Amino acid sequence: MIKIENLYVEINGNLILEDVSFEVKKGEIVAVVGPNGGGKTTLVKVILGFVQPTKGKVLIEGKNPKDYVKSGKVGYLPQKSSYDRDFPVSVFDVVMFGLINTSLPYKEKEKKVLEYLNYVGMQQYKDYSFGKLSGGQQQRVMIARAIISQPELLILDEPSTGIDVVAQENFYEFIKKINKEKGITVIMVTHDIGAIGSFVNKVVGLNRRLHYLGDFKEFLQKEALDKLYGSEVKLLIHSPECFTCQHFNIEVKKH
Ligand SMILES: Nc1ncnc2c1ncn2[C@@H]1O[C@H](COP(=O)(O)OP(=O)(O)OP(=O)(O)O)[C@@H](O)[C@H]1O
Ligand SMILES: [Mg+2]
Repeated sequence: MIKIENLYVEINGNLILEDVSFEVKKGEIVAVVGPNGGGKTTLVKVILGFVQPTKGKVLIEGKNPKDYVKSGKVGYLPQKSSYDRDFPVSVFDVVMFGLINTSLPYKEKEKKVLEYLNYVGMQQYKDYSFGKLSGGQQQRVMIARAIISQPELLILDEPSTGIDVVAQENFYEFIKKINKEKGITVIMVTHDIGAIGSFVNKVVGLNRRLHYLGDFKEFLQKEALDKLYGSEVKLLIHSPECFTCQHFNIEVKKH
């Protein structure tokens, strides 16, 4: 579905992405991981056509990103910044904004907004001020907004930021569900390495260059973690409490 070939991005003389190549297949859930400032958000913005590559090629179903995004087939959840708590916009209107590129009659749009608010368990909040919701509730509303146009590609930049552990688990269940039920391809930037192992098909480890490309189990076992973050991460991940290690039956190293 997505083909990225020898991608370079340079901003103000700084090389942000260097020689990045990988592919995403239809229906895959791909995690993009790596340290802060590693270029994950920049990569996502290139895929969305918001940032132009300095060199290299990005094609989505054979089209350039801008044309693909224009066709309304992409849902995007930007990396969360703090929302203005006094910004006077209702939950309903936030989700309605996701239909801005569609030409349905208003009544149909209204029905859809309620359907998708229900889908993320937020229907009873439809008239609330968006800014007054909790962080996790806001993320759910933003997800509804991102998927309401029934995208073929869903791009999530750190979707679980600010969500508590229980809500996080529900959230990942939810991602699995929409991937399965609606066949949506998902690209998810995340720092949540301990929680994503059971459902991602591919890991892209990014720190300016592509440091790792492969499945999750290999990602934990190989030297990829050391290379990507430095060796401290391995100590954290390979702790006896590590759910992911138990899940994959990875031997816990004693340090
Ligand atoms: N518009 C811009 N102008 C100048 N520098 C930029 C711009 N956008 C990104 N950068 C730089 O590119 C690098 C990568 O930023 P990016 O936001 O892609 O990282 P990230 O991997 O998403 O980090 P985080 O995990 O903190 O979200 C950073 O050093 C950042 O300062
Ligand atoms: Mg980022």
